[in-house]
Amino acid sequence: MRNTFLSLLLLVLSTVIVKADDWGSKGHRATAAIATNYLNKKTQRELEKLLGEETLVVISTYADEIKSYDAYRKYGSWHYVNIAPGLSYAEAEHNKYGDIVMGIEKCKEVLSSKTTSKSDKVFYLKLLVHFIGDLHQPLHLGHAEDKGGNDFQVRWFNDGTNLHSLWDTKMLESYGMSYSEIAENFGSVSKDQYKELTKGSVLDWVTEGQTLAEMVYDSAEIGEKLSYRYQADHIKIVQEQLQKGGVRLAAVLNELFG
Ligand code: ADE
Ligand code: ZN
Ligand code: ZN
Repeated sequence: MRNTFLSLLLLVLSTVIVKADDWGSKGHRATAAIATNYLNKKTQRELEKLLGEETLVVISTYADEIKSYDAYRKYGSWHYVNIAPGLSYAEAEHNKYGDIVMGIEKCKEVLSSKTTSKSDKVFYLKLLVHFIGDLHQPLHLGHAEDKGGNDFQVRWFNDGTNLHSLWDTKMLESYGMSYSEIAENFGSVSKDQYKELTKGSVLDWVTEGQTLAEMVYDSAEIGEKLSYRYQADHIKIVQEQLQKGGVRLAAVLNELFG
C-alpha cells in the first residue's frame, strides 16, 4: 500500500516537474542577441519605448516562464506546429487552440494595430521574439504522434532523454558556449546573406523547418545511444538555425517598427 502510494506520488511529481523547455534559454537568448545587431535605429527606439530597460535577450524566454500558469495555458500550443510528413501547412489539420503560425500572425497583428494598449503590445512582443526562435528548432515543426519528438526516446551519453530535448537543449549544453559567445561567433552575416536569409514568408520558413525536421527524425533510431559523433554531425545545423532565427527576428521587427 505504502509502495503504491509512493509510486503514484513519484509519477505525479515527474509529470509536474518534466516540462518542455523549447530552444532552452540559451537558444532563445542567442537568437535575440543576434537579432539585436541587425535592428535599425527606428526599431531600436520603438522597442525601447515598449520595453524600457528590458533587452530582447531578457524577454526572449518570457513565453516559457509563463507556461505553467493557468492564465497563460492557452498559449501553450503556440510554441509549435505539427504537420504530417508530405503535407504543407495549408493542407495540414490545424490545432483548434492555435499553433506557432497563428501565434506569430496574432502577435504581428497586435503590434501593428493603432488601437491596442501598450501593455498588450509589450506582452505580444515578448511572445513574438520567443516564437520566431522556436520556429527555428526543427522539432517544433515535427509530427503530432510523438509530440515533435518529445516521445521519441533516445540515450544521450549515459542519460535517458528524447530527441526533442536533445535539439532544444542537450546539444547546446554539451557544446558549452554561452549565448553571447554563440551570438559573437555565429551571428555575423554579410549584406547578401542577410538578404538571402530574410526573404520569403513565415510559411516559407515553416516549409524549410519541416524539411529539417524530417532529417532530424532520420538521424536517430528510437532507443539509440547518441554521443560525440551525433554532436559533431549535427551541431552545425543548430548554429545555422540560431543564426537564421536571429537574422529573421531582426527582419520581422524592422518590418513592424522600422
Ligand atoms: N512541445 C509540446 N508538444 C509539442 C508538439 N506536439 N510538437 C512540438 N513541440 C511540442
Ligand atoms: Zn521545444
Ligand atoms: Zn517556446
